[in-house]
Amino acid sequence: MQEAIILVGGKGTRLRPLTNHTPKPLLSVAGSSFIRHQIAKLMDAGVEHVVFATSYLASLFEEEFKDFSQDLAISYAVEEVPLGTGGAIRNAGRLLRGDDPDAPVLILNGDILSGVDLRALLERHETQDADVTLHLTRVLDPRAFGLVPTDEDGRVLSFLEKPKTAAEIVTDQINAGCYVFRRSVLDAIPADREVSVEQETFPQLVAGGGRVFGHTTQEYWRDLGTPLAFVHGSADLVSGRATSPLVDGPSEALIHPTAVIDPTARVTGGSTIGAHAVIGAHVVVDRSIIGAHVTVAEGAQVHESVVDHDSTIGEESLLREVVVGCHSHVGAQNELPAQLRLSCGIRIPAQGVRVSGTAVACPTVH
Ligand code: GDD
Ligand code: MG
Repeated sequence: MQEAIILVGGKGTRLRPLTNHTPKPLLSVAGSSFIRHQIAKLMDAGVEHVVFATSYLASLFEEEFKDFSQDLAISYAVEEVPLGTGGAIRNAGRLLRGDDPDAPVLILNGDILSGVDLRALLERHETQDADVTLHLTRVLDPRAFGLVPTDEDGRVLSFLEKPKTAAEIVTDQINAGCYVFRRSVLDAIPADREVSVEQETFPQLVAGGGRVFGHTTQEYWRDLGTPLAFVHGSADLVSGRATSPLVDGPSEALIHPTAVIDPTARVTGGSTIGAHAVIGAHVVVDRSIIGAHVTVAEGAQVHESVVDHDSTIGEESLLREVVVGCHSHVGAQNELPAQLRLSCGIRIPAQGVRVSGTAVACPTVH
């Protein structure tokens, strides 16, 4: 039986306020919670049992899957205190059902959108008789990731998590957050304390001569852990740049059947419009996620942004690379600066914020 572990215990701090009430893997991406896309991909690769390594808002995972009726067993390894990525893997390993010490166990970070062929990764692991096989990819800026140089046979030479200095950036090849572990190697991770698989387990395995191999591929890959990456990942799934068994064919936008879109509005770039959302006349929504029960009023523009459920965007307001928490209100004619995050329940009055042009005349009597 092929088994897998998904690490989903992180707090998702870089995605606040979206993750205030919802763990990152349960956020909606292209119409389904992100973890459902991962589950569908694992099932396509022949996985029959998945263990979720949960911690932050753990009960919401059981809630999400309580009616799951497909041919996949799901277990929950709940950490009362987060155990770190290595500790989480070891802890989840207790719930695996097989008992072969050489069995290959698939492990995924819970925020990776990737076109990697998981069967090919498993095959590579077996062919190399590896202790651990890491999926690796190349990125333009590797600083936010684990650097993994390899030799010509793909053997991992070192593992350096999040380099701090320019001298440490020895490669653009990074850990793509998807591994195959030999079961006995997974079971050898310490069980009595917090362990980081990136800072501790991988460097120690490499230094100790373990058979650690990289499987480098060029397919689509993105870590959805930051707001911009999150909206881009969702838009890529809708527009077909990235694929998921849960998304039918490429389209310009994914619009919930209960949403009401004015015929003069333009919803483009793989945007998603949630249930009961109302999109007004002459609105532009591009490469964005509009949550359930959101209203975007006439003439507003939303670019590369997330507007969480039950919020309103006033007439002629402009949002670019902004995250609006749930139950917020942005009044008319605001221009919100890039990277702004509006906490849940915040109200910005009409004409309250501008980043360009002239502010409105001063209403105060002097
Ligand atoms: N159960 C559990 N317990 N899960 C955890 C814990 C924990 O204590 N800490 C983190 N996680 C989960 C997160 O929920 C996420 O799914 C995954 O582990 C990775 O954590 P991130 O916070 O997303 O890490 P990152 O993106 O900074 O870096 C990781 O991913 C990169 C690829 O995207 C590292 O593995 C890097 O080496 C890698 O390049
Ligand atoms: Mg991440």
